[in-house]
Amino acid sequence: MTYKEIKFFLLLVFFIFSLDLSAKEKTDSQTVEKKIIELVGKMTLEEKVAMIHGNSMFTNGGCPRLGIPPIHMSDGPHGVREEISVNSFKPAGWTTDSASYFPTGTAVAATWNRKLSYIQGQALGSESRARKKDIILGPGVNIHRTPLCGRNFEYLSEDPFLISEMAVPYVEGIQSMDVAACVKHYVANNQEKDRGTVDIQMSDRALHEIYLPGYKSTIQNGGALSVMGAYNKFRGDWCCESSYLLRSILRDQYGFKGIVMTDWGALHSTVKGANAGLDLEMGSRRPFNQFYFADSLLPAVQKGNVPMAVLDEKVSNILRVMYSLKMMDDSLKRATGEFVTPSHSKVAYDVASESVVLLQNRRNLLPLEEGRINSITVLGDNADRKHAEGGFSSGIKAKYEITPLAGLKSKVGDKIKLYYSLGYEKTSDHNFGRGSVELNPKFDSDSLIREAVRLAQRTDVVLIFAGINHDFDTEGYDKKDIDLPYKQVELINAVSEANPNIILVVTAGSPVDLRKVKDKVSSIIWGWYNGMEGGNVIADVIMGKINPSGKMPFTLPESLEQSPAHALNRYHGKEKPLEYEEDILIGYRWFDYKGINPLYPFGHGLSYTSFSYSDLSVNKSNENITLTFTVQNSGKRAGAEVAQVYISSPGIEALRPPVELKGFEKVNLKPGQKSKFRISIPLNDLAWYNEKISDWQIEKGDYKVMVGSSSRDIRLKREFEIR
Ligand code: BGC
Repeated sequence: MTYKEIKFFLLLVFFIFSLDLSAKEKTDSQTVEKKIIELVGKMTLEEKVAMIHGNSMFTNGGCPRLGIPPIHMSDGPHGVREEISVNSFKPAGWTTDSASYFPTGTAVAATWNRKLSYIQGQALGSESRARKKDIILGPGVNIHRTPLCGRNFEYLSEDPFLISEMAVPYVEGIQSMDVAACVKHYVANNQEKDRGTVDIQMSDRALHEIYLPGYKSTIQNGGALSVMGAYNKFRGDWCCESSYLLRSILRDQYGFKGIVMTDWGALHSTVKGANAGLDLEMGSRRPFNQFYFADSLLPAVQKGNVPMAVLDEKVSNILRVMYSLKMMDDSLKRATGEFVTPSHSKVAYDVASESVVLLQNRRNLLPLEEGRINSITVLGDNADRKHAEGGFSSGIKAKYEITPLAGLKSKVGDKIKLYYSLGYEKTSDHNFGRGSVELNPKFDSDSLIREAVRLAQRTDVVLIFAGINHDFDTEGYDKKDIDLPYKQVELINAVSEANPNIILVVTAGSPVDLRKVKDKVSSIIWGWYNGMEGGNVIADVIMGKINPSGKMPFTLPESLEQSPAHALNRYHGKEKPLEYEEDILIGYRWFDYKGINPLYPFGHGLSYTSFSYSDLSVNKSNENITLTFTVQNSGKRAGAEVAQVYISSPGIEALRPPVELKGFEKVNLKPGQKSKFRISIPLNDLAWYNEKISDWQIEKGDYKVMVGSSSRDIRLKREFEIR
């Protein structure tokens, strides 16, 4: 046989095999649907109702008579939460539930590495199975609308494309372990302040272009099996009672067949919620039989206010997910998972190692070189603080967490003299229910600064670990401002007078104001809440074992007032509906459109090496535009670059942001090495949502494609037209 014949033969076999597979899949799903109908047919009203509400903090009721087990859930999204009591959020007191603590949402997004997102999802799924969980409550795909949102650290980005590209593999990874992901919080839970009362108003265009893509893509491309409805209202209805959100969009437009559950306590009615298409009510505030989908649902169904078919639909959606998780058939081998293994530590290390962002590196102070540096002053509460437990529902009782100081000590402590001093004191405390409260200081801040200066004068380099912690980045509260707290600015100013070699390491999952300190330090590293291996990673970045390759997944503004929600005074909105007046101009879209210079733009991140871009060509077919270009490592160290593709649309028929992210790829390159990129963008991805026709529309006209190292560091440009 010739090569061509062999190829043809193999293709034929593949074709027949895939036909066979898809036929099998169809029969499988038909069989499952048949089984679901049979099971539902055998259930009493009470048994059906028992399945659609919580009967402990994190389980629903099963149906023991028919062999249907309860579903076990857990937070999410960056580790399996500690086991809590049946009736309250009090820890259950287990000694075997210390889990792996993985990098949080913004850190994962900052890797811009889909594969890493998948492997973290898979490790999380594996830990969930090992803890016998069926649904893990994550990822959180809400948009970073305001820098103040307390949960930005759990979410991914201000950009819907980056969110989708990173969340889809996360979901696939989780679900590869026979655990359902739960994409949350649907929709527009973009602030924690007044999240339980705020009524969000936005245009359909903003909804479809900005706020929905994370859900659409995880459902349609990632196969997400569950979605969590948010606490807030949307256009006058609670999200969990909005038939527009739950039926028209999720079911009818996206074809979602899985479970829609409430956020904990997010339902406010029986009949409206039931008819709106919600499947499962979870929560904590009342006895479980007093849930809206419990005792009071029985008469509502009996009287016909909630049709039996609607109840059956909910039970069916739940059973369908249980079938896909192999919970309903003992003959199917379900993944058993692994808990806190060295391989999960490696996952945490690998993800963290690509998430760290080098914002600034004047005089190439970084990386430090062993042999040339004899002494380092290490300052800051964040140098030795563990963050895993903070943030409320996403908090992790971590098996271990390496702090930066511990990482530095173990990696270079025997070769370089390390002097640690607090520098500033953490004078806040997070008490859930009261927010951040001011503590009486234990130390005199002037003395702390004096001691820091004294040490800084004596050492070659100073590392200042500043930023915030989960008293600020937390569920339930927004930050009050984006200032660096605890007199960190005073500390940095004073130390900069004593030593010019300062490396500032920022711990935060959302923007903080670096304007006042940027010019006082040589280098700035953004370190995130980076999981249990975070401290080892920071030490390796500082010492050059890791070459940073993270890119900011959000814009760092110069001030809060630069950000759209605050520039337009459209934040908060407890008493009256909160109009998202900035519409589609979120994050860099706003900064670019208004010509505002942020402190660091979206997509920014430096490396210890440099990259050059060349040879961009663009080919357009009826379905795609395909770009090819070359990136070369033009420096002296191996490193990874994220090549970002932005499109500028004609903007004649509608307002379009100056640029929008439509593609990216990350590549590792040795010094001198080149890589040819080929990125295909479906033309449909260039469409805008036209409210007049309630549909997506591709504008005709001249487009620009821009390839670069950040949204404001464009290296190559080409034009193409769509007629
Ligand atoms: C949070 C959810 C979380 C749930 C269960 C709620 O307060 O908003 O994200 O999954 O609690 O802990």
